[in-house]
Amino acid sequence: MTLHSTAFGEAPGKVIITGEHFVVHGSLALATALDKIVKVGARITESNHEVISKTSGTSFKIRDPEAKGTFPSLKTIERTLSFLGSNERVTITIESEIPNASGLGSSSAVAVATVAAIMRLHGKDIDRQILFDLAMEGEMVIHGNPSGVDVAVAIYGGTILFKRGMVPKILEPDPQLELVVGVSGIRRKTSRMIEMFAKVRAETPHYFEAMVRSSDSFTRIAAEAIESGNIEDLGAVMNFYNSVLSYFGLGTKDTDKMVDICLSAGAVGAKITGAGEGGASLLLLHHISVIT
Ligand code: MEV
Repeated sequence: MTLHSTAFGEAPGKVIITGEHFVVHGSLALATALDKIVKVGARITESNHEVISKTSGTSFKIRDPEAKGTFPSLKTIERTLSFLGSNERVTITIESEIPNASGLGSSSAVAVATVAAIMRLHGKDIDRQILFDLAMEGEMVIHGNPSGVDVAVAIYGGTILFKRGMVPKILEPDPQLELVVGVSGIRRKTSRMIEMFAKVRAETPHYFEAMVRSSDSFTRIAAEAIESGNIEDLGAVMNFYNSVLSYFGLGTKDTDKMVDICLSAGAVGAKITGAGEGGASLLLLHHISVIT
């Protein structure tokens, strides 16, 4: 490794097909990787750690030592270097195809790609569990109490069945199934949504536990349906989740409208995905040609 050599890491964004929010509280979640990725380059530098982000043509640099420990990428960098026993300084360059703050896992993809790039820079093999643990440190700075599903998809790719504390199960989806993601463009903070959902648990614990158990069962049904290509069952479970998430206040006028348009245009299932609250993105089980 020389001062100017750069090592790279890449990771995909994600959509949650079923089980968002409930997964934070112990339910299964079904999630799949997007065909949009984050690419991170890491190189040793002589001055302070530096994070350069180039997303959709914009770029900014962060050199502020005050940001240390709070800016998630800096946390990820510091934890990874400390794991490696290194006190070097690095410059990280992030190039992302994933819209951020949209429920599409951009922060997790950045965290995973950052750890991978720094590990490669130091010639280290990338163990998935270590990658997960280190990437989660940065994620906790942003999201408070994330389940880890976003990080797991960014590491494993493909389609996974995830539960907190367990190695994800890799699924083999029927290749005929098609999912389409629409982005509302309304950004929001996942941490706030996680907190809001956790309040329901505190207020009505028995009711909430029953919901978590149901979510587990419905996600199992969705996982079986995705592997067997049972589009009706998968669509029905997605529609069920959309109703439940809307009931908890996670839909907005815009996303409700997107869901309605897609269902009336022939989609078998449509739902908000990720943290919700307009935020952003919508997942559709395809069977429509055009969304207007
Ligand atoms: C965010 O992509 C998914 C949530 O379930 C939070 C989490 O699992 O960490 C809302």
